[in-house]
Amino acid sequence: EAGKIADDVGLNAYVVGGFVRDLILGVENFDIDIVVEGDALMFSEKLAQHYQAHLTKHDRFGTAVVVLEDDFKIDVVTARKEYYEYPASLPVVEGGTIKDDLFRRDFTINSMAIKLNKSGFGNIVDFYGGRRDLQMGLIRILYNLSFVEDPTRIFRAIRFEQRYDFKMEEKTEEFAIKAIESGILGKVSHERINFEFFAMLKENNIWAILKRMEDLRILKNVYPEVVLSEDLKKLLKNAEENLACLKEKVSVQESLDRTLLYLLILYSNMSFEKAVKLSEKMRLSKEYKSEILKFIEANDIILSNLSGNIDISNYDVYNELKGLSMEILFVLCMLSNEKKFIDRVILYINNLKNIKTCVTGKDLKELGVKPGPEYAVLLDKVLAEKLNGNLQTYNDELEFLKK
Ligand code: CTP
Repeated sequence: EAGKIADDVGLNAYVVGGFVRDLILGVENFDIDIVVEGDALMFSEKLAQHYQAHLTKHDRFGTAVVVLEDDFKIDVVTARKEYYEYPASLPVVEGGTIKDDLFRRDFTINSMAIKLNKSGFGNIVDFYGGRRDLQMGLIRILYNLSFVEDPTRIFRAIRFEQRYDFKMEEKTEEFAIKAIESGILGKVSHERINFEFFAMLKENNIWAILKRMEDLRILKNVYPEVVLSEDLKKLLKNAEENLACLKEKVSVQESLDRTLLYLLILYSNMSFEKAVKLSEKMRLSKEYKSEILKFIEANDIILSNLSGNIDISNYDVYNELKGLSMEILFVLCMLSNEKKFIDRVILYINNLKNIKTCVTGKDLKELGVKPGPEYAVLLDKVLAEKLNGNLQTYNDELEFLKK
């Protein structure tokens, strides 16, 4: 349909980039990018009209988004030629051909297009050896200054390496190393670094990605607060396995926030001050920041209080762990190598976490207790007895209160 519209308005239109890469690899991808040789805004209006879809235009950039369904959207841009005035600047843009447009992209595997017009429909346009590199599993830049012009591509290269089990082509890796050594990452805004970093945390193999970042000395440059000590490395390396193990043992319905989980691991050996600093640099949400700081403040104490063989009542376990998110509880288990500790956390999640008293303030009132702070104390006593297994029914609780 898009091809027919392109024919109607007399322009060439192509699907480009990640969609083409993933199509050839047989990987699902719902982000469609279309490049037209000519007026993208006009084309996108016709496309939106045709599908009766919502259209968002960015006149200043000459780009548009056609939203067909919630997670199905098409980005439309005019084919352009781009150049950079100085390293790490934003590019200067002018109109160009599809060949120009593909050349300014990050890697050969992302530089292919598929023609949509009737004449040539479905043809793969591959000026720069994208298919060859897909076959060989290589991440290759298109021109020597690529990483200098856009250093965020170094992060992307690492992400694609791990995602597809590819390798940077030798020269490409040399250019990446040179760019990093020149200190170019220091010229990139925190926002852009953070954007790339959080995209990495969405990938599957986070340990491999972080290791690569460490080996290429990227972590030191962008987040010097993160120190991959031997302990932390071990934690990261075993994270997925431990996670799977824990998931089997607990009855959690909620899905875990993997980003938060890995952030907690990365911050686990940090001082409070460093953590505050880094969370600001990372522009973490209020929720993430407070989770992380809560974790750093409490993890040592919790680990030591709930470890060891001396008996600890359920009520004490409950009090130690109440209010902590599932992510924190999981990371605490990963940090501990004591079975006893892990058993206690699992007991808490499976059996204690959701226990509440049946009796309420209303019952206390009916028993003639004068409303006041004593209510909380009494209800807590009931909870303690209940957690410790001494009260089963509502009646048990009432009887206990009467005593
Ligand atoms: N691109 C680029 N340089 C960047 C970012 C993007 O050249 N720094 C180009 C690539 O050709 C890429 C396309 O823009 O294919 C779309 O970018 P994006 O949607 O971010 O990437 P995808 O390749 O689709 O990757 P992902 O699967 O992670 O979304």
